[in-house]
Amino acid sequence: MEGSTTAQAETGSDEDFIRANTVLSAPPLLPELRLHLGGDPLELWRRTQERLGDQSPGMPFWAFAWAGGQALARYLLDTPEAVQGKRVLDLGAGSGVAGLAALRSGCIGVTATEIDPLAAVAIRLNAAANRLPSPEIREDVTFALEDFELVVAGDVCYEEPTASTLLGIMEAAATRGVEALTGDPERRFFPNDRFEALKTYELPVMEDLESRETSRTTVWRMRR
Ligand SMILES: C[S@@+](CC[C@H](N)C(=O)[O-])C[C@H]1O[C@@H](n2cnc3c(N)ncnc32)[C@H](O)[C@@H]1O
Repeated sequence: MEGSTTAQAETGSDEDFIRANTVLSAPPLLPELRLHLGGDPLELWRRTQERLGDQSPGMPFWAFAWAGGQALARYLLDTPEAVQGKRVLDLGAGSGVAGLAALRSGCIGVTATEIDPLAAVAIRLNAAANRLPSPEIREDVTFALEDFELVVAGDVCYEEPTASTLLGIMEAAATRGVEALTGDPERRFFPNDRFEALKTYELPVMEDLESRETSRTTVWRMRR
């Protein structure tokens, strides 16, 4: 049964592929949001590579709500005054978790950046599943920072190129006086001397992804 669903998804649309390989469910820290979330990361990675071939950017990050993204989203849901009336830029959006929380808390709109084509599809599906407007999704990171009043980035410091590109944008925003927030469990490339801590959460995480059962994850504001 499962095999036939998968075979159909491999020839169907990206939406079919995502629906067939995920379960619409709430991440542990975010009972008010539903996301298309994956199970076994290695198996999903293999299926993604089969589907996208050379186009595959690697790990299907979009199928998981990472510790940093969950903490950031929890903070935005509990602190609506941080987003209300603001245009939000969500860098390295993945499933869209942080931007969707900002929309739920009443921001004006969200632009999400992603380099993974399947993530763009997942973000649209996740927005629809929560009856939220879809973020505008962009692959490039050359845009006018003056179009935004808040920049958020969930869990983007796990590898050097991503961290340096996305932190560079946050720094440019902070220099212009725009608030830049990240959620990060102090990953290898997180420069904590450039941030101040706002709130720390202890949350359950997938052992297959994190090699542990819980993560202590902080929401940080970039120093100006
Ligand atoms: C660990 S995931 C975090 C996803 C989501 N923010 C969360 O916290 O659940 C990092 C994401 O950054 C994306 N990414 C990496 N480099 C990027 C870049 N230069 N521009 C935009 N997105 C990027 C990856 O595709 C991935 O989806």
